[in-house]
Order: sequence, then structure tokens, then C-alpha cells
Amino acid sequence: MAENEPVLTAHDISITYEVNPPVHAVKNVSLTLNRGEILGLAGESGCGKTTLAYGINQLLKPPALRTGGEITFHDKDGTDINVASLSGDSLRAFRWDKISMVFQGAMNSLNPVISIKAQLFDVFTTHRPEMSKREKLERSEELLKLVGVDPRRLDSFAHELSGGMRQRVMIAMALALNPQVMIMDEPTTALDVVVQRGILREVMRLREQFNFAVVFITHDLPLLLEISDRIAVMLKGEIVELDTSKNIYEKPQHEYTKKLLGSFPSLTGARGGFVRSGVDETATAQGDQS
Ligand SMILES: Nc1ncnc2c1ncn2[C@@H]1O[C@H](COP(=O)(O)OP(=O)(O)OP(=O)(O)O)[C@@H](O)[C@H]1O
Ligand SMILES: [Mg+2]
Repeated sequence: MAENEPVLTAHDISITYEVNPPVHAVKNVSLTLNRGEILGLAGESGCGKTTLAYGINQLLKPPALRTGGEITFHDKDGTDINVASLSGDSLRAFRWDKISMVFQGAMNSLNPVISIKAQLFDVFTTHRPEMSKREKLERSEELLKLVGVDPRRLDSFAHELSGGMRQRVMIAMALALNPQVMIMDEPTTALDVVVQRGILREVMRLREQFNFAVVFITHDLPLLLEISDRIAVMLKGEIVELDTSKNIYEKPQHEYTKKLLGSFPSLTGARGGFVRSGVDETATAQGDQS
């Protein structure tokens, strides 16, 4: 993995919901995402994580308004893309192709009336019109295999799949065009711990294989400590601390980070010192998650 080569830079982002009274959901946030890294974004409910993710991906809709800041995507071919200037066709071409997103509650956002196959085909029809039907089918089968779902499930409808399978399908869709960045907003929160671990292991493996960067959003700090290279801690719309997982765990600077760490007994209990254990070894340590 090329270290410290940025793939995305956000500078001084502010986002307001223009309601009465206005909600300043994101305040002067700057961050750099490096190629191939997992950046965790932690913070309590309502602190602005999803709003920031939407802002980075140019997905904001009224009443949300980005009131300031720049977002630059550093494409692997060397061009810089000013994300905030994209709209219409250029935005459609950018999204999913360069940055994809697994939405919060995504497992309930599959279209209930068309098959998994039709939904994957839609992505290709929009973004890769040159693909033949046969190529679409092969790629769809390959994608399901990558996320650990039997390709025979392609003809299934969302309601025929378990929550974990649906979430895997959403990840397959996010992977479909080989993006350089994947934003995952609470991708596994609704799933039980064993399923969650399985999916995370898959994501980590895919990241190794394809070297995309991940912004991983969750309020589950212990989980982030395990999987992230760096962690940004967000409080009331601001990033109050951003450091390596090791430093966040061993020498948190901000009072809020300390409070967050302290609120997870598993982090302060018998396990002791920081272990960048990886998802594999802790697959059985279910107690750690509660
Ligand atoms: N459509 C909206 N109109 C007004 N305010 C909104 C809207 N959507 C979100 N907000 C407010 O913006 C703030 C940030 O919300 P956001 O959804 O980004 O938080 P979050 O960190 O993702 O929370 P969670 O962990 O619960 O998903 C909150 O105060 C929320 O109430
Ligand atoms: Mg959210």
C-alpha cells in the first residue's frame, strides 16, 4: 500500500441544514484520506457523521447546504477532481465509479420489486454501457462470490435474503465499478456480532486485494480500533481528534476521546494493552462488542 498518498482531501467543510433554527451539522472539517487506508469516523449519534459523508460524496440535498470548503479527489491517473463542482452527468459519472457508498440502513434500501441481478445490471447499464449482457452476468456473479454470497442468489429478491446477505449485496454493488474510495456508513450495526465480523473480515480482505480506501463510520469505537489505520473523532460537527488507532487508544488527547474510550468497558478491562488484533483473531471474542 502506498503510504500517505492522498486519494481524497477535504478542506474546511461546513454544512448547514437550513431549517428554523438552522442546524450547523458540520463545522470546518478538514481531513485527508490516503490511498488504501481505512479511516474510522467515530462519534455519538447526531454529531454529523452521515452529513459529512454525504458532503464528501456530493450527495447533499436541501435543506442541507455546504456553506464552505473544498473537496478534491486525486484520481489514480493523476488528475485532481473538484468534487464540489460536479453536477448532472459529470456527477453521475463520478459517483460509484470513483467513490461508492454503503448507506446507513443500506440493507433495507435494496429495491424490493426487482431482482438482485437487475439491480447490479442497472449499475453497469448506467456506468459501463459498453458491457455485453454476458459480461454483466459474469461480473455480477464474480461480485457476489467476492462478498461471500452464492451467485445462484442473483435471481433472488431482497426479501428472500437475510439481513447479512442483503448487506453483502450492497457491498457488492459498492464494489461493482472498482472504486478508489468506499464510504461505509454504519454498514454492520444492525447485524448480530458474528455476521458483522464475517462481513468485516470480507471487507478487510477485499481492501487488501483491490487497495481501495475506506471511510468507516460507526459509533463503535472498539471496532474502529481494530480495523482502522487512523481514526477521526467527531463531536458536535467538528473533528476534535484525528490520529492513528494506536495513538487514539494509547494517548488520547481530547477529553471527549477519553470519555468515548472509557465508555466501552471492554477497552479498559482485562484485555489490557492495545492490540491491533485484526478481525480474524477476535472473531470469537463476542463479549468484546457488548
Ligand atoms: N434533514 C435534516 N434537517 C434538519 N436537521 C437534520 C437533517 N438531517 C440531519 N439533521 C441534523 O444534523 C445533525 C447531524 O446528523 P447526522 O445524521 O449527520 O448525524 P450522525 O452522526 O450520522 O448520527 P447517527 O450516528 O445517529 O447516524 C443532527 O443534529 C441532525 O439532527
Ligand atoms: Mg448517521
